[in-house]
Amino acid sequence: MTQDELKQQVAAAALTQVPRGEIIGVGTGSTVNFFIDALAGIKDQIRGAVSSSERSTERLRSHGISVFDLNEVGQLSVYVDGADEIDASGAMIKGGGGALTREKIIAEAAERFICIVDQSKLVPVLGKFPLPVEVVPMARELVARRLRALGGDPRERTGYITDNGNLILDVHGLHITQPRDFESRVNQIPGVVTVGLFALRGADVALVGTPTGVERRDFL
Ligand code: 5RP
Repeated sequence: MTQDELKQQVAAAALTQVPRGEIIGVGTGSTVNFFIDALAGIKDQIRGAVSSSERSTERLRSHGISVFDLNEVGQLSVYVDGADEIDASGAMIKGGGGALTREKIIAEAAERFICIVDQSKLVPVLGKFPLPVEVVPMARELVARRLRALGGDPRERTGYITDNGNLILDVHGLHITQPRDFESRVNQIPGVVTVGLFALRGADVALVGTPTGVERRDFL
C-alpha cells in the first residue's frame, strides 16, 4: 500500500469516532484532507465543524459542511487531526503544515483528541521531524537564540506566513526525551506564540494505518 492509501484508510476509520449530531473539531494536512472527504459522506449526520486552518475551512465548505467559529461553539467532544510524529505516550510533533496554533487551541477545547496517522509517524523519541515553533516576527532572533541554548538548530521556514501573520522556526537536531518539560520551556520564551509539541495535551487515541489494517492505541 502507498502512504496515501494508508492515510485514506485511517481517515475512513476515523468516521467511527465522530459523534453524530455534533460539531466536530477538524485539523489540517493531507491525512485530514482524506478525513474531510470521508466526512462529506456523513455530512447530514453532523452539525458541522470547527476548522484549524483556512485550507481545511475551504475544503469543508466545498463539501457543503458548515464551519463554525470556536467562540460560538465552546467545548467540543472530538478533535480529529494528523501528526508529523507521535510517540508511545501520545505526545506529538505537529505543525508541518503550519497550522499549529489553531490546532493547539482546538485540541485544548476538545474532550478527545483522535490522532490519525500512517505508521511512518510512530517514533520512539520525538525530534527527528523538525519541531515547528510559531513566532512573532520581531522576536525571531531572540527566540532562535533561546532555542539554540535548548540544543536545537532553528531555521526560518522561508516564504511562509501563518494564518495568524507570524513566522515559523523549524527546529532541527532535537532528541526530545521529556516532551512535557520541553514544551513548557519553549512556551516560556517571550515571542513564542505556539510550539508544535503536543505533550501537555497529547492524543487520547491514535488510529494508525498499517498495511494489515488500522490499529488503535489508547493513551491514559
Ligand atoms: C499541520 C499538521 C499535520 O497534522 C501534520 O503536518 C501531518 O500532516 P500530514 O497528514 O499531511 O502528514 O500538524 O499543521
